[in-house]
This record gives sequence, C-alpha cells and structure tokens, in this order.
Amino acid sequence: MKGIVLAGGSGTRLHPITQAVSKQLLPLYDKPMVYHPLSVLMLAGIREILVISTPEDLPRFERLLGTGEQFGLSLTYAPQPRPNGIAEAFVIGADHIGDDPVALILGDNLFHGPDFSPLLRRKASEVDGCVLFGHAVDEPSRYGVAELDDDGRLVSIEEKPAVPRSDLAVTGLYFYANDVVDLAKNLTPSARGELEITDVNAAYVERGTAELVRLGRGFAWLDTGTPDSLLEAARYVQVLEHRTGVRIGCLEEVALRMGFIDADACRRLGERMGGSPYGAYVRAVAGDHPNTNPGRPERPAPDSARTSRPGPS
Ligand code: TTP
Repeated sequence: MKGIVLAGGSGTRLHPITQAVSKQLLPLYDKPMVYHPLSVLMLAGIREILVISTPEDLPRFERLLGTGEQFGLSLTYAPQPRPNGIAEAFVIGADHIGDDPVALILGDNLFHGPDFSPLLRRKASEVDGCVLFGHAVDEPSRYGVAELDDDGRLVSIEEKPAVPRSDLAVTGLYFYANDVVDLAKNLTPSARGELEITDVNAAYVERGTAELVRLGRGFAWLDTGTPDSLLEAARYVQVLEHRTGVRIGCLEEVALRMGFIDADACRRLGERMGGSPYGAYVRAVAGDHPNTNPGRPERPAPDSARTSRPGPS
C-alpha cells in the first residue's frame, strides 16, 4: 500500500499564523504537526509516501523530511497549486499510487490510541473498496457524518449536515483500493468548486464496499484548524508526554519499532538534534532498544520536571 499525506490548503482559519508558513509545519508542542500523520502511515507499515502541499510550502517539507531514507522511508513530493479538494490527492498522486491500494491522511490530523498499529496493519491488508475511521464528536454538523445500521454497516455519509444522523465524524484517514484513482479523475467538482472526499466515499457506500472502523473512547482524534484546537492539540501532546514519559508522533522511534531502521541509525538521528529534549529522547530510545550495541547507554537530558523513558507506543 502507498501513502499520501495531504498538507496543502490555505489555513484561513489560522490567519495570520498561516500567512507565512503552512499549518502542517506549525509546532504541536515539541514537533511539527506533520510528524503525527506521517507516523500514522508508518504505523500502518507504509514506507512509500507522497507529501502534497502548496508550491510555496513544499520546499519547506522537503527541508524537514528529505528523502525519508533516514527513517527507512521513500518520501516524494508533489505540489497542489490550489486547494481544489481533498480528493484531488488521488489525481495528483496517480503515478505514485500506480497499481497499489492507497492510504490518505490529512496533514493536520492527530490520532492517538491503544493498539493502533495492529489495527491499521490489519485494515490496510484487507482493503477492498474503502476503509474509513470514525470518531464520536460533540458537534457532528462540522464534519462528514457517518450513519451505521444496527449491524454496524455504513449506510450513508453526509457532509456537514444541519441535522446529523449520528455523532460519528469521518476522520481524515482513509484507505482505498486502487480504483479510487479512476473514481477521483471522474468526479465533478462540488458547488464550492472542490473534488469532495465525501463524494468518493459515497460512491463506495453505494457499491456496498465501504467500511467504517469506529475508533472507541480510548482513542483521541484531534484536528488543528483553529487557534483553540491548535493550542488544545499542543497541550494534549505536552500533558500526555509529561505524564507518561513517552513521546507520540516521534518518527525516529516509530521507524525503530517498526523495524525500518536499526538502533544505531536511530541514535545517529538523535545525535543530529543536539541538546533538544526531543533529541535526547531519540538517543534514549535507541539506547534501550534490544538490538543496540551494549556498553553505550545514554540517558536523556532532563526535560522540564521529568526524565524521559521510552516505552511502548
Ligand atoms: P481544511 O481544514 O478543510 O482547509 P484548510 O487547511 O485550508 O483550512 P481553512 O479551512 O482554515 O482555510 O483542510 C483539511 C486538510 O486538508 C488540511 O490539512 C489541508 C488539506 N487540504 C489540502 O491539502 N488541499 C485541499 O484542497 C483541501 C480542501 C484541504
């Protein structure tokens, strides 16, 4: 399965913050936002990933992430000149997708929950049509809303309905069979002039090949499109990391745990980050990993009130 991180858009709800820099490069406490969606694709076992952003921002993503080789990935980049809709990702990414199924994740979505990697890997291996991920929210009318029947089958998706049929929002993570490329190429732009992801999903619902995986109460799903949600997401990351001593969305750690890189490579990545607490954490994670060269343990530098200890993510 190929991966796409869609990190364009105009971020108007965050102006003036996003007038000079892309939303997805903004920090969520200790790391750029885009680390979170990228780590989700990695946890699904995906290593060939296309990053799509605006022509102005794309070089900044490349500066941050490079070829991806350091994480055992192959990262490529493509521009989306105008925010013509989420489903345009499959048209822009057609060559990258080739004959494979594809996972798309929005660059401003953060997911965190137990046993996420096995769930993602299982669903990625089974995709036949589309797999969507739903999460209960307070204000469903702000989202694409999924309706399930009594057997848990997905029967409809409505975009920002005035009267929502459930509280289940469709999140910004989507798995598709390869035919999504043709489907997207044949979409008609909506009244707001966008290729709508909801129209793609509705086509799979009509064919009876759409599945919605409900992420339960133990899961957090945050997006970061407004000043309040941006700050809340940063605080979420900070509180969680301080309380558990484990960092979330740490690409080096995910790469190590997924077996994409070895402990020595992980340590070298940590060493490149100088004195930052994040860098110290990466070095500690490498030091505690079973395939590390013994005799070179390193403890992380104190990070505010605690000492980071790597643990299962
Ligand atoms: P939105 O939050 O709908 O749009 P936005 O990020 O441009 O923000 P605003 O509404 O404040 O102007 O987009 C959701 C995500 O999808 C976000 O990560 C941007 C991305 N996106 C694209 O990359 N290209 C697009 O054409 C669209 C519609 C969204």
